[in-house]
Amino acid sequence: MTALGCRNISEYLAVIDREEEIRQQCELLLTVSISRFFRDRKFWEILEKELLPEMVKKNSDKIKIWSAGCASGEEVYSFKMVWDGMKKHAVKFPKLEIIATDMNPTYLARARAGIYSSSSLKELTKDLKLKYFQQKPGKNLFMVNPTLGKDVSWKRHHLLSDPPDSGFNIIFLRNNVLTYYGDRLKNKAFNNVFSSLLPFGLLIIGSHESLPSDSSDLTRVARLPYVFRKGPNP
Ligand SMILES: C[S@@+](CC[C@H](N)C(=O)[O-])C[C@H]1O[C@@H](n2cnc3c(N)ncnc32)[C@H](O)[C@@H]1O
Repeated sequence: MTALGCRNISEYLAVIDREEEIRQQCELLLTVSISRFFRDRKFWEILEKELLPEMVKKNSDKIKIWSAGCASGEEVYSFKMVWDGMKKHAVKFPKLEIIATDMNPTYLARARAGIYSSSSLKELTKDLKLKYFQQKPGKNLFMVNPTLGKDVSWKRHHLLSDPPDSGFNIIFLRNNVLTYYGDRLKNKAFNNVFSSLLPFGLLIIGSHESLPSDSSDLTRVARLPYVFRKGPNP
């Protein structure tokens, strides 16, 4: 505000209305990147033991994942740890494609670099921490093993204004638009995301979030009130 010479909030809002570039800068300043590996631990356990094995059985060629609003990539690397653990025990496993998107390029750069403070790792098991992370000498920072970035495309994407990709088996839409936006924008973003989910695909939202009111054609997955399947339960 001060940098733009605005003396009060009304003047700042007037500049935002007038200048698209300033509006976009303001929007980026308002984003929040807080995340952690294996956030909502129970979900990841059920994903590994039940949901993914069932999906892999039905889709032997390829599984396509979208982490929408991925921030610094904790959710994406968590998924890769689960996937790699399962793949190790399988004779034949589907090909994996992960699209990880965020509107904030600074967070995407952090996700690509894969360096995290210990607070992001607090829900990780000791085994996974040892297997996939290396501590930076003398620092409270941990670098994720770059092999986990294989199969991942990091892309800048705005959930309200950019067209979605399609054909996803799993979409993570956690702790972003459904928390931060009002009803009208929530619905718009949600409908874009929903249209890109395949029949019987899984949608995961934040554990404290709820779906917008007009979200039909989704069935809640047992024991996980924030995980939904597109269409009726099989
Ligand atoms: C709190 S983080 C959530 C990270 C991760 N999904 C999780 O649940 O741990 C929210 C992220 O959503 C992104 N975001 C918010 N609104 C967005 C939008 N309209 N389009 C794309 N990304 C958005 C922010 O930039 C931020 O990185």
